[in-house]
Amino acid sequence: MIRVHEPPAASTLGSQTIAVVGMGYVGLTTAACLARRHFKTVGIDKDKKRIGRLRNGETLLHEPGLHALVRDGLRSGSLRFSSTIQDARPADIIFVSVGTPSRRDESIDLSQVRSAARGLGAALRNVEEKKTVVLRSTVVPGTTSGVFIPTVVEHAGKRANIVFCYNPEFMAEGRAVQDTFHPDRIIIGAKNPESWYGLASLYHHFYGFEKQKMIMTTFANAEMIKYASNAFLAMKVSFINQIANLCSETPGCDAQTVAEAIGLDKRIGGLFLRAGLGYGGSCLGKDMRALRAYAKGKDIELPLVDATLVVNQAQRMVAVRYAEEQLGSLRGKRVALLGLAFKPETDDMREAVSVRLAEALLAKGAQVIGHDPVANGNARSLLGDRIAYADSAEECISGSDCAIVVTEWDQFRRLAARTFRRAMRHPLVIDGRRIYDPEKFGKAGVTLIAVGLARSSG
Ligand code: UGA
Repeated sequence: MIRVHEPPAASTLGSQTIAVVGMGYVGLTTAACLARRHFKTVGIDKDKKRIGRLRNGETLLHEPGLHALVRDGLRSGSLRFSSTIQDARPADIIFVSVGTPSRRDESIDLSQVRSAARGLGAALRNVEEKKTVVLRSTVVPGTTSGVFIPTVVEHAGKRANIVFCYNPEFMAEGRAVQDTFHPDRIIIGAKNPESWYGLASLYHHFYGFEKQKMIMTTFANAEMIKYASNAFLAMKVSFINQIANLCSETPGCDAQTVAEAIGLDKRIGGLFLRAGLGYGGSCLGKDMRALRAYAKGKDIELPLVDATLVVNQAQRMVAVRYAEEQLGSLRGKRVALLGLAFKPETDDMREAVSVRLAEALLAKGAQVIGHDPVANGNARSLLGDRIAYADSAEECISGSDCAIVVTEWDQFRRLAARTFRRAMRHPLVIDGRRIYDPEKFGKAGVTLIAVGLARSSG
């Protein structure tokens, strides 16, 4: 049963001091947002170089709003950075937000969680004042109680006065700050009400009058909720992509209209039904593979998760198929990729559709050129000189035989059909993210193939 938390009395709201261990995008966003709400916050990471740059106000990643928050936090003194985990000891609430990458067998690699727990435990050795330690990393059910807590306690000593929570994050890259200030819900897993009280008070203080739905539950539920959320989101995307492929071959059909209409049914919901070339990023795919590995350990099969992954992997290939249908062999053809990051408003290239798409095009003998407003540098470190990089969208499409919209940056939406017609050798655009008006492109003499839109009117 879900327990929705009642706010504690106003007098119990305090200004706790905070430490956040792990300065990846989740940890850094958490720290910067807390500092914005005037909590004295220290962001800790063992990577001294990263800490050095953060102290200079460099956020090291492209995340809207984050840079300004970090800069303001440093200036006002509410935010500081440290490479020493001992600096977590004075804090009342300590968040741990370290990476949980995939191992070769798809299960999650808990080495960073273990090492942070050991370090934090040692830093809190025999601590007498009450501390709340909150794990935020995405971990499979059983990890908080079976791995994290015992490791912290082993190093802190049994007398250390620590309570534990598991508090998954639901921030999407490119909107992490917005998601932190306006979450749909807050999930807190803990052993008993006494344990979640400190964190719940923090959130009531943080959100002030904006009432938040706080769900208090067990550690295992909180851990499972995170995986189930991401798996469901990925499944929605793969589902609409399947429907889109069917719409493409069905005269009179448009997946965009279908998605909008089915989304009006409250039981379905309209979000995450944008058909395209598949999802990328460091979370959805990785989390589903981890969930599958976890289930395998329990002898349970997850065919919906399997299918979601298979559909997603195949989806990027629809762009290659459409290009071949129009151009014949791709050998020697110049293909422009508009967008390289896994989604707009980020420079993150992890599991980006562009990488596998570029590789598939290269394998067909195409010459590939890409442009991304912010991710060209990160793309180069993955794809090297196998593809060329353009400094602008116009330069990217210039002289090309086919342009594929891979990431729906606003800059690309603004490109007019006639720009494509003038710049391209062969005016063929594959709209992998549905950002262009087929009618306008048709009138301008550009062949536009949009994912999910019937390719013949029948
Ligand atoms: C995802 C979840 O959305 C967050 O709630 C979660 O906190 C995060 O993972 C995490 O586990 O840390 P993220 O991967 O950053 O966030 O980005 P999403 O907005 O979920 O987008 C993932 C991919 O799905 C992108 O490539 C996007 O283009 C694609 N997508 C999304 C679609 O193709 N269609 C849609 O309708 C929506």
